Amino acid sequence: MHIEHQLSADHSRATIHIEGLQRDLSFLHITDSHIAAGDERDPDAAEHVTSVTGRFLDRTPGNVPPQQLFDEAVARGKSSQVDFAALTGDIIHFPSHKGVDIIREGMADLDVPYLYTPGNHDWHFPHLEWSNDTRAAHYPRFQPIAGDNPACQSLVVEGIRLIAIDNSNYQVSNEQVEFMRAELSHHQPSILLIHIPISIPSLTPAVMEKWKAPIMMAASEGWTEQTREQWRVPTDEVATAVFHDLIVSGDSENLAAIFCGHVHFDHVDEYRPGRYQYVTAPVFEGSSRLVELKAG
Ligand SMILES: [Fe+2]
Repeated sequence: MHIEHQLSADHSRATIHIEGLQRDLSFLHITDSHIAAGDERDPDAAEHVTSVTGRFLDRTPGNVPPQQLFDEAVARGKSSQVDFAALTGDIIHFPSHKGVDIIREGMADLDVPYLYTPGNHDWHFPHLEWSNDTRAAHYPRFQPIAGDNPACQSLVVEGIRLIAIDNSNYQVSNEQVEFMRAELSHHQPSILLIHIPISIPSLTPAVMEKWKAPIMMAASEGWTEQTREQWRVPTDEVATAVFHDLIVSGDSENLAAIFCGHVHFDHVDEYRPGRYQYVTAPVFEGSSRLVELKAG
């Protein structure tokens, strides 16, 4: 399957030519707005609404609230008449009912099909332990925007297969690997949505510079015992390595691109010849990416 990628000078627009696509399509990619919202349904969240909102306001352009920047990103998709939307996590900073409502209402306003894959913050209230149990306990809150199983989702829009895998704990499970293989076996042009970028050589220096740890998926080098403890990233599970191999060198040529976030800066590069990973800068900095998919 022949695929070609082109980027605008400021990287806010991308064009992907995909052999076999039925017609031209476009979509909006947004990630990491870190909205901190809550109401009476989540009394424990009140202190975090104040502290997190204050922290992120200092980092937004013009001190505009993250929720407003999220609304502006959605409006960009609306005015561009996109065919679908891809949301790759940390849109909210913790899983309050109010936060999930904001995303659901934003997507209702955009009024196109979308997939939402969780980030490491989405399912974690700061006062709780960061663990797989905490993630599992909060998955049901995401049912309105991520269905019954946020770990593995897919959606076909006009011949493009969108696949969303929750890798927000830096790992994937055997079930997710099998889901990915089954999705790829349709041999349709496909796009993968994940929160945490996969490790590729050209991304590593900037991640290390910003975070002082290689906070990517399947990063085999750069960790220390201390940073693994700090980021709660134990040695990779076998399934994670298998997944990484499947993407970078396995039978996944019909995967046209990966879209992700997490590290809070823009980075676009090949993860295998002719196939690109798009790390999109965060909504809380006013960023989003419009992607055109060109047939033929
Ligand atoms: Fe994240």
